[in-house]
Amino acid sequence: MAMALASFLLLLFLHFMAVQADGEDAAALLAFKAAAVGNGGGNGVLASWNGSAGPCSWGGVTCGRHRRVVALSLPGHDLSGTLSPAVGNLTWLRKLDLSYNWLHGGIPASLGQLHRLRELDLSFNTFSGEVPSNLTSCTSLEYLALGSNKLAGHIPSELGNTLTRLQVLGLDNNSFVGHWPASLANLTSLQYLSLRMNSLEGTIPPEFGSNMPSFHILDVCSNNLSGALPSSLYNLSSLTDFDAGNNKLNGNIPTDIDEKFPHLRSFAVFNNQFSGEIPSSFTNLTNLTSLQLSENRFSGFVPRDLGRLNALQNLQLGVNMLEAGDIKGWEFVESLTNCSKLETLVLSDNNFTGQFPISIVNLSTTLQTLYLGGSRISGSIPSDFGNLVGLRSLYLFSTDISGVIPESIGKLENLTTLYLNNNSLSGHVPSSVGNLTNLMKLFMQGNNLEGPIPANLGKLESLNVLDLSRNHFNGSIPKEILELPSISQYLNLSYNSLSGPLPSEVGSLTSLNELVLSGNQLSGQIPSSIKNCIVLTVLLLDSNSFQGTIPVFLGDIKGLRVLNLTMNKFSGVIPDALGSIHNLQELYLAYNNLSGPIPAVLQNLTSLSMLDLSFNDLQGEVPKEGIFKNLSYLSLAGNSELCGGISHLNLPPCSTHAVRKRSKGWLRSLKIALASIAVVLFLALVMVIIMLIRRRKPVHRKKGQSLTPVVEEQFERVSYQELSNGTKGFSQNSLIGKGGYGVVYKCTLFDEEIIVAVKVFNLEQSGSTRSFVAECEALRSVRHRCLLKIITCCSSINNQGQDFKALVFEFMPNGSLNGWLHPKSDMPIVDNTLSLTQRLDIAVDIVDALEYLHIHCQPPIVHCDLKPSNILLAEDMSARVGDFGISRILTESASKT
Ligand SMILES: *[C@@H]1O[C@H](CO)[C@@H](O)[C@H](O)[C@H]1NC(C)=O
Ligand SMILES: *[C@@H]1O[C@H](CO)[C@@H](O)[C@H](O)[C@H]1NC(C)=O
Ligand SMILES: *[C@@H]1O[C@H](CO)[C@@H](O)[C@H](O)[C@H]1NC(C)=O
Ligand SMILES: *[C@@H]1O[C@H](CO)[C@@H](O)[C@H](O)[C@H]1NC(C)=O
Ligand SMILES: *[C@@H]1O[C@H](CO)[C@@H](O)[C@H](O)[C@H]1NC(C)=O
Ligand SMILES: *[C@@H]1O[C@H](CO)[C@@H](O)[C@H](O)[C@H]1NC(C)=O
Ligand SMILES: *[C@@H]1O[C@H](CO)[C@@H](O)[C@H](O)[C@H]1NC(C)=O
Ligand SMILES: *[C@@H]1O[C@H](CO)[C@@H](O)[C@H](O)[C@H]1NC(C)=O
Ligand SMILES: *[C@@H]1O[C@H](CO)[C@@H](O)[C@H](O)[C@H]1NC(C)=O
Repeated sequence: MAMALASFLLLLFLHFMAVQADGEDAAALLAFKAAAVGNGGGNGVLASWNGSAGPCSWGGVTCGRHRRVVALSLPGHDLSGTLSPAVGNLTWLRKLDLSYNWLHGGIPASLGQLHRLRELDLSFNTFSGEVPSNLTSCTSLEYLALGSNKLAGHIPSELGNTLTRLQVLGLDNNSFVGHWPASLANLTSLQYLSLRMNSLEGTIPPEFGSNMPSFHILDVCSNNLSGALPSSLYNLSSLTDFDAGNNKLNGNIPTDIDEKFPHLRSFAVFNNQFSGEIPSSFTNLTNLTSLQLSENRFSGFVPRDLGRLNALQNLQLGVNMLEAGDIKGWEFVESLTNCSKLETLVLSDNNFTGQFPISIVNLSTTLQTLYLGGSRISGSIPSDFGNLVGLRSLYLFSTDISGVIPESIGKLENLTTLYLNNNSLSGHVPSSVGNLTNLMKLFMQGNNLEGPIPANLGKLESLNVLDLSRNHFNGSIPKEILELPSISQYLNLSYNSLSGPLPSEVGSLTSLNELVLSGNQLSGQIPSSIKNCIVLTVLLLDSNSFQGTIPVFLGDIKGLRVLNLTMNKFSGVIPDALGSIHNLQELYLAYNNLSGPIPAVLQNLTSLSMLDLSFNDLQGEVPKEGIFKNLSYLSLAGNSELCGGISHLNLPPCSTHAVRKRSKGWLRSLKIALASIAVVLFLALVMVIIMLIRRRKPVHRKKGQSLTPVVEEQFERVSYQELSNGTKGFSQNSLIGKGGYGVVYKCTLFDEEIIVAVKVFNLEQSGSTRSFVAECEALRSVRHRCLLKIITCCSSINNQGQDFKALVFEFMPNGSLNGWLHPKSDMPIVDNTLSLTQRLDIAVDIVDALEYLHIHCQPPIVHCDLKPSNILLAEDMSARVGDFGISRILTESASKT
């Protein structure tokens, strides 16, 4: 009876306790709900939490036998508020999982009251602040995941000495600073540690690993850790996954890595400073699937038996100093053909030489990514390269590989990315490339590819970048590739030998950002359809033979930032419409035949930071605002009739008075010029007639009078480097003029001793090589007081590896006759008008020169381009005839007629 009563009283008491506690847990949970829901956040589950039923029936809540809450688990419930400190009152809690929510604010210190808590997962929220040191009171914790938040400060060092049952510690992807706490070495039950993506610095503590028999996974990737791996680490004999990439760690990898970490599945130390050889004992680790050693200083040979790693999927050895050559070093590729699961192979940027390893074509068809670039490997791409049908990305660039692109490449139908740039590939692009319909990026620039651009590149409907620049492609631009609407990033066909017009289909490139066609022989007008390329930001058509006016509709391409039309044959005025391209930052119109005024609207373009209008025939007033305020970003050289502008331009003023006076002076000099030219032409005609009359009779000339070539005989050839030095790298400051086929620089040769004029031929301009040859031919057989003296020539390679041709002439300090007849400025440096005597002397000099060319030269030479700008004036104002670029040497038969 007494027993029964006692039992009854005990039950009653327990019931009372449970009800009390029930209420307490309910209060804490309701406080949690109120804070966690945030501004109307939270979904369905929390709506069921209310007073009518006990908390044990609430969603996400689990109670124990005593009806106390032991687990609160609400992962991924869109909770967007804060974590209430009331949770600290759920004292029976063993598991708290609030991962994958939007909770913010601090982690409450009251969690330290949860002495029974074994599992705390707050990962993937936006908690901030420091980890409260009170957490170290949760001494039952086995699983602590705080990764992917915004936590900062130091990792509490007490963690290691109190949470002795911890098996999993995830602190990754936060902003922790300072050192890796040495105390973590005391977590003897630890199996998993991730400190990935923080800002930890210093070394890995020397005790870490010595007493962790169950440890499997260590991820400290992307911190600032330095020093060598401590030897204690190699006691982690159960380690399967090691990632210490993206740090500043150094040292060697021990040769017996297979004995240290016998269970290794994945080993990553990419982007550190490790050195020494890659231990061949890696080949004993038969469970290894991933070995990432890229971006270190590993040297020596790649272990030859890597193929023993049957499970290998990912091998990355790029950017090291590994060796291989024709004699030894490439065996590992043959061996890798046994790895039937290989997906990624990165070998680029090493000290590999020798022939392309042919056995690559026998690698597993599971291979998806292959990097081979940045090494001096040579030979050619094997014809059955198309065996690697699984390839999605091929990076084979910057090598010495030559020969043709094999036809079989068309079999790689899963390719999305193909880099074949900067090799020595030659021949035609195989038409099978048109079968690579998944291709998004195609890079073939910087090879010796030739022939027409295959029209069936137009089948590559996923393509968004195409770069075929710097090859020898010829023919016209196939309209098919302009009809690929997917091309969005850029289309670069520059520096080839493409000719013909720009097809109007260019207007189909409505997503294209950058169009680069520089350095070809494209001609005709810019098609009006280009205004449909509405997202174009960069348009480079420079160094071609485009002609006509600069189209007004370019003004419709509002996003344009860079427009380069330099070195074409555009004429007419610069359209005001360019002033409506509000984003325009760089505008280059130099070396065309543009005339008329500079549009004043250009000074309103606030983004414009570079303007080059040099070497045109622009006239009239230079604006003073905007880009025209700063000479550093403005070039107007070689436009003889500009006036006004800011004073630093040193242009003559445009005031009406000055203009009238100037124009009178100009008119007068024009009259005199026309008169002189008329006299010259008349005399020339007379002489031609005399010559023709004399020709009828046999002319006897003394043998000794024939002149020997002067060029080779008198002077050594001068090197590109000497010319470059003498012109300060062909600087704008040394520029003194522009000829039809090139530019002329003032140059100081042989340690300041000689000042010369260097005419550099623009070899990208068609006909300029012909012009160079014509001038060389003409000048090698002539020498006369009134002809411009050639000093030497230079036919060489410039420091970009392109052909370079230049002629070196005596320097004419007084410039061209044109400059005197049409003075650029009223600056009082020299008296800028010629006296009558001077004019007569000049006319006589010209006639002397012509008489010599037509009568005394054998064979006779016709200049064909006699005009004031080709008459140069020496220091004493005596005249020299120059620029023989289009001269003709009359052959025997021609000269008789
Ligand atoms: C925890 O419970 C105690 C006692 O019921 C109460 O006084 C306190 O306010 C609660 N703490 C929080 C943070 O709600
Ligand atoms: C944090 O821990 C300290 C010392 O153990 C204790 O005094 C304090 O009350 C704790 N804070 C909370 C909010 O539990
Ligand atoms: C690890 O624990 C031992 C014993 O508690 C202690 O003496 C030692 O200082 C701890 N090591 C570190 C690095 O905290
Ligand atoms: C390799 O992996 C298999 C399967 O996971 C496992 O059974 C075996 O023990 C592993 N071998 C080593 C040496 O860890
Ligand atoms: C692989 O392991 C065996 C047995 O432990 C050993 O004899 C051999 O030297 C190892 N191979 C390499 C390349 O280290
Ligand atoms: C690359 O290899 C060549 C010849 O094998 C050697 O002379 C050179 O020093 C090596 N360079 C580096 C950086 O190891
Ligand atoms: C190409 O990719 C598709 C889709 O991912 C895949 O199913 C197919 O097996 C791949 N082809 C080859 C030859 O690997
Ligand atoms: C390209 O694809 C077509 C159609 O699938 C096929 O007939 C042709 O043989 C392929 N060409 C190459 C070179 O793979
Ligand atoms: C513009 O064209 C000229 C002539 O081809 C070239 O030298 C210059 O580098 C080009 N500038 C830009 C920004 O494209």
